[in-house]
Amino acid sequence: MVSTVFTPAAPISEDELFAGRIREVQKVIDAINQVGQHVVIYGERGVGKTSLANILSSRLVSKAGAKALSPRVNCDGVDSFDTLWRKVFSEIGVTKPPSAGFVPSGLATGTTATYAQSLPQAPLTPDAVRRHLAAIGRGRLLLVILDEFDRLPNGTLRGAIADTIKSLSDHAVHATLVLVGVAETVSDLIAEHQSIERALAQVLMPRMEKPELQQILDTGIGRLKMTMTQPAKHEIVSLSQGLPHYAHLLGLYSARAALEGRRREIKKADVRIAIDSAVMNTHQSLVDAYRTAVSSPQSANLYGRVLLACARARVDEFGFFAASDVREPMSSIMGKRYDIPSYAKHLKHFCDPSRGRVLRIEGGKRKYRYRFRNPLMPSFVVMRGIIDGLVDFG
Ligand SMILES: Nc1ncnc2c1ncn2[C@@H]1O[C@H](COP(=O)(O)OP(=O)(O)OP(=O)(O)O)[C@@H](O)[C@H]1O
Ligand SMILES: [Mg+2]
Repeated sequence: MVSTVFTPAAPISEDELFAGRIREVQKVIDAINQVGQHVVIYGERGVGKTSLANILSSRLVSKAGAKALSPRVNCDGVDSFDTLWRKVFSEIGVTKPPSAGFVPSGLATGTTATYAQSLPQAPLTPDAVRRHLAAIGRGRLLLVILDEFDRLPNGTLRGAIADTIKSLSDHAVHATLVLVGVAETVSDLIAEHQSIERALAQVLMPRMEKPELQQILDTGIGRLKMTMTQPAKHEIVSLSQGLPHYAHLLGLYSARAALEGRRREIKKADVRIAIDSAVMNTHQSLVDAYRTAVSSPQSANLYGRVLLACARARVDEFGFFAASDVREPMSSIMGKRYDIPSYAKHLKHFCDPSRGRVLRIEGGKRKYRYRFRNPLMPSFVVMRGIIDGLVDFG
């Protein structure tokens, strides 16, 4: 039961469990409501892009009151234009046999076939896709969600999708393409975006704000008919660093800890137990990346502590910090003042391949800024710091 409301490993698919994101949802819906507008949703890994795409259809009701049709497919590295669109069309159910002509029905009960089965053998072209989408979108709200767009090979295929958007837009087809992917800028996802600038609403998914993370906890524990003390919530929200994954993960384990203690109130002590479980169950690849970053033959080395200080450094809205931002957390971890020269070398090494490039560096001399390459890393590092007694809990 607890794992049905707290889902650290799966995107949200139920509208009621979807927290916050009011601005982003509105932006996407505004675009959907304008014929000729399409959408790209982009941002860091794990910030909640797929979840937003998943709940769109439940927030859209066509004028006729019908639910929107919103096939979602994951792109992958071996897709061609043809295979990608066939995947899309196999997500669309039809009720009549091919001979009588297909009537798109959504995947309602009684569905007997998919739209893909009606397609000719010849490879699909942007023009053909436009015609099919026009037929399916007639009289209904249709959004086609192409998730994991960053996995598509760069180049002609992405260009062909841009052409499709252009063609849909020029012909005022009643269908909206929603491209979703990990990227820092829209050009990283779709280099051709300038040619379709006016047709493409760009929605950046930022990290979640504290009230949004709190809402995830409140909704979850409300469903479980449990409560959580304010200090426990505060702890989870601050450890999550804007990533909904950690709010779910720590919500899940702390609720379990309370239930094991036969309590319906989750306390800070339960969060402490949750941290142990979270670290113990961390994905091996993250654990390996951590080891690569901090391991050293010298037991007295500072890599682990400097990385912890980085994970606690104040960051700007893009997640970057400067060497000077590490000074305060480093001094607090070490119990005496540490200045930049004592850890500058470590910061540099964290950007090297030998340390798995756990940090990324940007900017010129005297203006270097650093950021964790994997957004999931800082919370993990801080939780380890708590377990190792290097950081106070609370
Ligand atoms: N608005 C939200 N409310 C509640 N939980 C959310 C919300 N957005 C995301 N989550 C949770 O956060 C985690 C990551 O979400 P999701 O998979 O949607 O992110 P993503 O950006 O698509 O990730 P990736 O870049 O890996 O594809 C999941 O556990 C999901 O349940
Ligand atoms: Mg996703």
